[in-house]
Amino acid sequence: MQQLRGFVAHRTDLNDAAPIDVCSVIEEATALALAVGSARPTIHRDLPKLPPVLGVGESLSQAFGNVVSNAIEASANHTDPQVWLSASVVWPLAAGLTRQGWIDVRIRDNGPGIAEDQREHIFEPFFSTKVRRSGMGLGLAITRQIITAHLGTIGVAESSMQGTTFVIRLPLASDEQAR
Ligand SMILES: Nc1ncnc2c1ncn2[C@@H]1O[C@H](COP(=O)(O)OP(=O)(O)OP(=O)(O)O)[C@@H](O)[C@H]1O
Ligand SMILES: [Mg+2]
Repeated sequence: MQQLRGFVAHRTDLNDAAPIDVCSVIEEATALALAVGSARPTIHRDLPKLPPVLGVGESLSQAFGNVVSNAIEASANHTDPQVWLSASVVWPLAAGLTRQGWIDVRIRDNGPGIAEDQREHIFEPFFSTKVRRSGMGLGLAITRQIITAHLGTIGVAESSMQGTTFVIRLPLASDEQAR
C-alpha cells in the first residue's frame, strides 16, 4: 500500500534536478536492494566514472533499485545466480550542432527470462507474475515513469531462458547543466 501511495504521489520535478553521478546511484540502489532481500547473487560491476546526467537522485535511485531488485529476484532460483551492472557513455554518430550524448545502463541477470507474450505488459501498473510476497507489479511502471520524466528510455534489450537484459538510457547533462 505504501508503494501504491508512492506511485500515485510520484512526480519527478526536473526543477529540483541536479547533476547526478549515475554509477554512484546504481551502487547505492544495489546495496539497498541487497540489504532488503535475502538473495545473494554474484554481482559483476562495470561502473566507471562518467559525466553527470541532470536528474533527481532519489527518483533515479528508486528507478535503478526496482530494476536491480527484479534482476536479483529473477536470478534467485539459479544454482549460480549472477547479475551484471554496466554503464557507458554513447555519443551520437552524426556530429550535429549539439553533441548531446547519453548514458547507457545495462542490468542483466541469469534468471529464467520473460515469456514473449508477457514482455509487452511488464511496464503496466499491477502486472506481476510473482506470487504474493513482494510483487505488486508497480516496480517497472514507476521506473518507466521516472526514466521518462528524465527524458530517458527503458526497455528489454534481450530476454531468453539464459536471462534478461534491461537497458536504461539517460541524456547527459549539457556543459551548462553540469556546472
Ligand atoms: N529481470 C527479470 N526477469 C524476469 N522477469 C522479469 C524481470 N523483470 C521484470 N520481470 C517481470 O515483469 C513483471 C513486472 O515487474 P515489476 O517490477 O513491475 O513488478 P514485480 O517485480 O512483480 O512487483 P514489485 O516490483 O511491485 O515488487 C514481474 O512480475 C516479472 O514477471
Ligand atoms: Mg519488481
